[in-house]
Amino acid sequence: MLKEPLIKIENVGKCYEKKGLFATKAVHAVDNVSFTVDKNEILGIVGESGSGKTTLVRMILGLEKPTTGKIWMNGMDVHHQSRVQKKEFHQKVSVVFQDPGSNFNPHFTVGMSIMRPLLIHGEKKEEAYKKAEKALELVNLDPSIMNIYPKSLSGGQQQRVAIARAIILQPEVIILDEPTSALDISVQAQVLLLLLSLQKQFGMTFIFISHDLNVIKYMCDRIVVMHQGKAVEMGTTEQVICHTENEYTKRLLAAVPHIENRK
Ligand SMILES: Nc1ncnc2c1ncn2[C@@H]1O[C@H](COP(=O)(O)OP(=O)(O)O)[C@@H](O)[C@H]1O
Ligand SMILES: [Mg+2]
Repeated sequence: MLKEPLIKIENVGKCYEKKGLFATKAVHAVDNVSFTVDKNEILGIVGESGSGKTTLVRMILGLEKPTTGKIWMNGMDVHHQSRVQKKEFHQKVSVVFQDPGSNFNPHFTVGMSIMRPLLIHGEKKEEAYKKAEKALELVNLDPSIMNIYPKSLSGGQQQRVAIARAIILQPEVIILDEPTSALDISVQAQVLLLLLSLQKQFGMTFIFISHDLNVIKYMCDRIVVMHQGKAVEMGTTEQVICHTENEYTKRLLAAVPHIENRK
């Protein structure tokens, strides 16, 4: 029997209307994209800024409705779920964004930020507190930071807190939208290593978005290349990095200074 994919993205498109001075223009942020994500894999989505990556992420998360197409998770249409199904979905799929500003509510302490998903899902406060402390340990942070505000932490520490919150409900899938793009190179490497180790330890599935092919190559089993809203190429990391025939992917590869195996 053929294995069903965990997530199926089927002919998905998103069109925005952009109001100009004299006319309204249609922007095809995402244009007829289809791919699947298997359980336990790290799927990379790479493409330059404005290629539609974040719009796609927002649709997978159910935050934005596709103009065309459908997104399935475990055989369920993400955009046609009952309230109970939505709650279950938010337990199974979590997200880390690039910008700590969009990851955290400034009025919440580190502890509250991490505990909130648990409290929403009916966990008792004392239990939630203990689990949040444990999650901080898992991302190599000292639980003593529970009572401070994320904005007083460094960028790398803030992303670790965002990761602690993303794993707190033991999700099946974490979507990481440029999670290290705002960090210094050395800090970036530590956070990527941490993500790889958590993914292995808990058998999670990652959808990992980046504009940086070096990072994607390091992290991902398979890659989808996006260009102007379209998925222009997909394949294993080896196929895409070493054997691409696609003109756009070749240009992306040529722009990366130290990537190996370039033709
Ligand atoms: N809410 C919105 N309204 C209008 N246009 C948008 C909106 N969100 C994104 N876009 C446009 O869609 C395109 C893709 O953006 P985005 O998904 O953020 O790309 P990426 O994450 O790859 O940088 C861009 O041209 C962007 O300006
Ligand atoms: Mg983006």
